[in-house]
Amino acid sequence: MSQKTHEILNDAKSRALIDDETYQNWYQESIRDPEKFWGEHGKRIHWFKPYTKVKNTSFTGDVAIKWFEDGLTNVSYNCIDRHLEKRGDQVAILWEGDNPYDDKKITYRELYEQVCRLANVMKANGVKKGDRVTIYMPMIPEAAYAMLACTRIGAVHSIVFGGFSPDALAGRITDCESTFVITADEGLRGGKKIPLKHNTDLAIKIAERNGVSVKNVLVVQRTAGKVEWFAERDIWYHEATAAAEPECKPEEMNAEDPLFILYTSGSTGKPKGVLHTTGGYLVYASMTHEYVFDYHEGDIYWCTADVGWVTGHSYIVYGPLANGATTLMFEGVPNYPSPSRFWDVVDKHKVNIFYTAPTAIRALMGAGDHHVRKSSRNSLRTLGSVGEPINPEAWEWYYNVVGEQKCPIVDTWWQTETGGILITPLPGATRLKPGSATRPFFGVQPQLVDGDGNVLEGTAEGNLCIIDSWPGQMRTVYGDHERFIQTYFSTYKGKYFTGDGCRRDEDGYYWITGRVDDVINVSGHRMGTAEVESALVSHDAVSEAAVVGYPHDVKGQGIYCYVTLMEGQKGDDALRKALVAHVRNEIGPIASPDKIQFSPGLPKTRSGKIMRRILRKIAEDEFSALGDTSTLADPGVVDDLISNRQNKK
Ligand code: WTA
Repeated sequence: MSQKTHEILNDAKSRALIDDETYQNWYQESIRDPEKFWGEHGKRIHWFKPYTKVKNTSFTGDVAIKWFEDGLTNVSYNCIDRHLEKRGDQVAILWEGDNPYDDKKITYRELYEQVCRLANVMKANGVKKGDRVTIYMPMIPEAAYAMLACTRIGAVHSIVFGGFSPDALAGRITDCESTFVITADEGLRGGKKIPLKHNTDLAIKIAERNGVSVKNVLVVQRTAGKVEWFAERDIWYHEATAAAEPECKPEEMNAEDPLFILYTSGSTGKPKGVLHTTGGYLVYASMTHEYVFDYHEGDIYWCTADVGWVTGHSYIVYGPLANGATTLMFEGVPNYPSPSRFWDVVDKHKVNIFYTAPTAIRALMGAGDHHVRKSSRNSLRTLGSVGEPINPEAWEWYYNVVGEQKCPIVDTWWQTETGGILITPLPGATRLKPGSATRPFFGVQPQLVDGDGNVLEGTAEGNLCIIDSWPGQMRTVYGDHERFIQTYFSTYKGKYFTGDGCRRDEDGYYWITGRVDDVINVSGHRMGTAEVESALVSHDAVSEAAVVGYPHDVKGQGIYCYVTLMEGQKGDDALRKALVAHVRNEIGPIASPDKIQFSPGLPKTRSGKIMRRILRKIAEDEFSALGDTSTLADPGVVDDLISNRQNKK
């Protein structure tokens, strides 16, 4: 594990909103008196009727979580209307198309009009407060309009990532009994078309068979590709919004009224509908957006996520717009038309804050530094990372090559369930350690426990729990509160269990080691697969690695490594030996890989997460029971992995 640290950078220090002393003071206050702390910071959003109660939460019994419970507000009002006077003409959404010559600037005033028109269309078609609306969209401004229009009239949106299959979409439509769907004719990513309307048609048939009948489909024309049309059900977005009124009064919502549902998969069962509510979520998303990214007025802010994931909800749309920011929305992919796309966009739009995922960083690192070096990146001030542990090797590359040692890296740990960032450095306040998410955000109380639930103090490694509520926390699993209690609060009674393993170092810094289900036990030693991966990736020949456990006669579990090599490297026995030696050297002999399989591709979901379930099965030589591979970005990689498996029985 890297022991390097990075001092706070001068640049960040001179501009930063928060210094270390302020962090310490605020943090202490937020824990000592959450009522007072959040009572104060809750005012950062506008309330039609101010709250008098701040916190009413319990992690035991029925697990009831309420924040600002008697306040009335509206999310779209906060993200749009209240900015109009001061920044009506400021760009709210800066859209960069898949094609580098395609872009669009939407001001706050234009956003207001678009959202109002769409809200009126939805109302005219019978969508009411509390109804669920499914959004299945490419990364185009209309996706944000759709989200905000729902919040304007009090409808609850459920966004389904545009890469999901018709089956997956159907399951989500059915679970929340959604009768209104917003989609596009086709999506466009990396020059390839995605048949969203066609998928929606198929999904609706499946949902119908399961007893949920969708009344309307609102279709944005993105590519003008051919689609089937069902006149009694389908509505063209451009026609309907053009005919609608450009004003729509925002619904007064209770702080605890549902805001959105977002489905997320666990290791068992069907995806859970994570439910977030209105007031606390918005306070938390906007506050973390400001302090974690050190957002200053006028900054151009870019989060490369997709609105189909929670990162897109909180940090493309709600957090930045609540703060009156200019948020960049990117339709494409990192390597189209070339691996310098991200940096070209940074230069083109003078991006100040850039937030992406380790998987993208590693892919671009593998493509070579020259793709980065030909851009200036002068505008960049803060770099962020999210979604998985970032190995120190990738961290250093991001820091040195992309940021040229001028930008702090905020490694932000959080989950769909947490609504916003929980553990993170703050630029200007936190000394950075590559690979560590560092310290808790205000109001967040992490606790490490062992398998029996014993609390671990000081320097320790264990299961990461959070012992008290924060405003952005999910409130329930949609339609299944019992599952909410079971999944998150029953493993360790009275605590929110994150499902992640974590280490706390001598400075009180947190190092996420990966999901606990990814932790392997070799000869009685617990080991984060992320640690072994990080060691492998720190070898010059390696671009990416994924490590799983497999049953081993002597050790209990052995270590099986899937390794993707840098371009031009040859995967042979000599390199296998070198990698084993390298890992022994980096971590210790207990981490020696037992099997190394060179694999040109890893099975990834379309959001870039490696599907370890598949890797475990192949490592176990149980590939006849691979389960559902339909969510893979490229199902073809599986065949290659199977034929080159290293553990044939
Ligand atoms: C992992 C994404 C290490 C973690 C916002 C968590 C991370 C899961 C980090 C949630 C990070 C996310 N360092 N691990 N900075 N961020 N994770 O729900 O295992 O898609 O439990 O939310 O991603 O993934 P989700």
